[in-house]
Amino acid sequence: MLDFEFCNPTKILFGRGTVAKLDGEIPSSARVLILYGGESARRAGTLDEVIQALGEREIHEFGGIEANPTFETLMDAVELVRREKIDFLLAVGGGSVIDGVKFVAAAVSYEGDPWELVESGGKDIGSAVSFGSVLTLSATGSEMNSISVISRKETQAKLAFASPHVFPQFSILDPSKTFTLPARQVANGIVDAFSHVIEQYLTYPVEARVQDRFAEGLMQTLIEIAPKAMEEPPDYDARANLMWVATLALNGLIGAGVPQDWASHRIGHELTALYSIDHARTLAVVMPSLLNVCRGTKKAKLLQYGERIWNITEGEDDERIDKAITKSRGFFEEVGLKTRMSDYDLGPEAIDDVLRQLETHDMVVMGERDDITLDVSRRILEGAL
Ligand code: NZQ
Ligand code: ZN
Repeated sequence: MLDFEFCNPTKILFGRGTVAKLDGEIPSSARVLILYGGESARRAGTLDEVIQALGEREIHEFGGIEANPTFETLMDAVELVRREKIDFLLAVGGGSVIDGVKFVAAAVSYEGDPWELVESGGKDIGSAVSFGSVLTLSATGSEMNSISVISRKETQAKLAFASPHVFPQFSILDPSKTFTLPARQVANGIVDAFSHVIEQYLTYPVEARVQDRFAEGLMQTLIEIAPKAMEEPPDYDARANLMWVATLALNGLIGAGVPQDWASHRIGHELTALYSIDHARTLAVVMPSLLNVCRGTKKAKLLQYGERIWNITEGEDDERIDKAITKSRGFFEEVGLKTRMSDYDLGPEAIDDVLRQLETHDMVVMGERDDITLDVSRRILEGAL
């Protein structure tokens, strides 16, 4: 097992009706800014519920945070926080809103150009305004991690940063808040969470047995609950399991003490930045091809994955790996995510554009062994056409 430090300070309040518990989590004298996305939180009544739970506190609102939140929009929120002397931020939404709030929290007291915080991967973040979240979409794990992904329209950049200063203080996880999600977003969430496990599991073995078993448990649960989680009318328990799996998939637990990949995410972020493809859909496209191209270095884990997740126990190694990749692609397709670039109207001409972006963002050595060079990324994209 690799050495590690693990600390996750985010308090989780899970279950029906937990929005009412906001009152006990935020200082009564706080000047609160509620941040949200488009209209979904208002339409579903969640925003009203939040405002009611906050009682007599001074409340301000900032709406309009986009899916794939942009620096440009978020800087307006930073100005508002500074102007109104806000001292507590509350995100109401999915990963985009929570990520956006993390950026705002860190940018408020930063004296330089806040984009530097993103570009430097978060290492310049010295402090952040306290914040919590009310989660309305199960997918990213942002509700219990210190990661944020911000886009900049001006340069078509989409970059991640992380800092221990941007863990949410608490997150309210009421699975019934996801009942208003369109099927497309539920499916995205399933695939995003599954991919988060793969990024931290499908590398090479380091005798991290409990991390492997946790990771396998999360993947098996996702496969088991996916059909029910997609059903209408929504099933509470299926949505509750999806919510908790997605949180655990990227809260640091399964990633502690193991090598991690994340190349599918990095290539995927470029596809979103250039072509506005939903985050999870970019993963559905890139990941099967990456597993195929990297089958040599990932061989031991691919065989373990095939055996323990898909019951593939017979045949030559290569045959078993083929089957495991086909099963993964099939799972993404079954929940409704297409897995080829051509499904998103992208042909070979897109490849050079994506590679250029990767080079600009210094994503030239990626993967758990730093061996995913631009040439390897090219092969991954060619295999995804
Ligand atoms: O904007 P509104 O109107 O709220 O609509 C949103 C949005 O259009 C809608 N939605 C959310 N909750 C809803 C709802 N609609 C109906 N009912 C509800 N209860 O869903 C749409 C997508 O929301 P978004 O927050 O963008 O989705 P998601 O949670 O998948 O977040 C994606 C973002 O997170 C980043 C992605 O790159 C992307 O920018 N990621 C963040 C990570 C992290 N912080 O750890 C890791 C991930 O790998 C990922 O990169
Ligand atoms: Zn993701």
